[in-house]
Amino acid sequence: MDAFQSHSAEFCANSSRTALTITRPDDWHLHVRDGAILKAVLPYTARQFGRAIIMPNLKLPVTTTAQAGTYRHRILAARPVCGPGSAFEPLMTLYLTDNMSPDEVLRARESGFVYGVKLYLTGVTTHSKAGVTDLYHCTAALEAMQKNGLPLLMHGEVTDPSIDIFDREKVFIDRVLEPLRRDFPSLKVVFEHITTLSAAQYVRDADAAPGTLGATITAHHLLLNRNAILVGGIRPHYYCLPVLKREEHRLALVEAATSGHPRFFLGTDSAPHPKNLKEHACGCAGCYTAPYALELYAQAFDQAGALGRLEGFASFHGADFYELPRATDTVTLERVTWVSPEDIDADSTTIVSFKVGELLHWKLH
Ligand code: DOR
Ligand code: ZN
Repeated sequence: MDAFQSHSAEFCANSSRTALTITRPDDWHLHVRDGAILKAVLPYTARQFGRAIIMPNLKLPVTTTAQAGTYRHRILAARPVCGPGSAFEPLMTLYLTDNMSPDEVLRARESGFVYGVKLYLTGVTTHSKAGVTDLYHCTAALEAMQKNGLPLLMHGEVTDPSIDIFDREKVFIDRVLEPLRRDFPSLKVVFEHITTLSAAQYVRDADAAPGTLGATITAHHLLLNRNAILVGGIRPHYYCLPVLKREEHRLALVEAATSGHPRFFLGTDSAPHPKNLKEHACGCAGCYTAPYALELYAQAFDQAGALGRLEGFASFHGADFYELPRATDTVTLERVTWVSPEDIDADSTTIVSFKVGELLHWKLH
């Protein structure tokens, strides 16, 4: 059966479920920042997810294994001291630059705590100035990553100003991803936070060796289309990159996430910014979904009649891709209607939590 057309009666039956227990999920794409914001946001992720891939785009980017090691300690120190969340494990990444050496790749691989290298083309998003000007400069680092099994995690958009912002992901596939996969056929690649029908189809259909191609999908791209940003006024808390797309793309993402295809897995891309920098003449990109990320995914899967596929997407496919053990404990979600939580206070800096309307329909125990 086509993996995109596989909703069966099994999943429709789930619409009457009142509780759902699944293996503890992981978040394969997360921003936690540093300092007071890190302390304020981390416990929300830690209570839901066993592990998370931590993005390296701090103000001073995490470009070395040594920096990733000290950042990891700051994250561990922000975990709850005991009880839920105290065993949360941050999986660190390095920020790819034109100058990354093969030796740095080797150090990262041998560290035991770095799980990937993140590609931002320079200027593509928040704190990406130090990013790659041309992947050609990274050939030696990419060879070392391919040889040592260290995945490349890609922000999949081109930066060419002549390309419309809504087309930048699609063009990235032709100009960057395809040539890259041709030159490095066994490099493990994650197409992060995909937002288009083209990307979903590409990932599903690409001729790729097992375990070499994956894609993360956010909860906000499953729940909203671009009208959310613009109808009835400009709503900066729905502005992120890659930007929300048309409804047909949202539907393709829902289809991909709920298909059961192992190349698709959960990555929230929760990206906290201070309220004053979101509600600004030039507002920052990022949706802060972490406080109830799993509930948002449950809502999206429930709407699609596919709750039975949530566990694979949230708890198995990413762990399998990264060749890590699946979690052995569980979490339980209950079907209740409740009001979205308050915004977060991080040492007098407010962070506005993402809201889809004011009501949520699943709640983590
Ligand atoms: O919306 C986004 N926010 N997209 C990104 O790629 C980066 C992120 C951030 O760091 O704020
Ligand atoms: Zn991100």
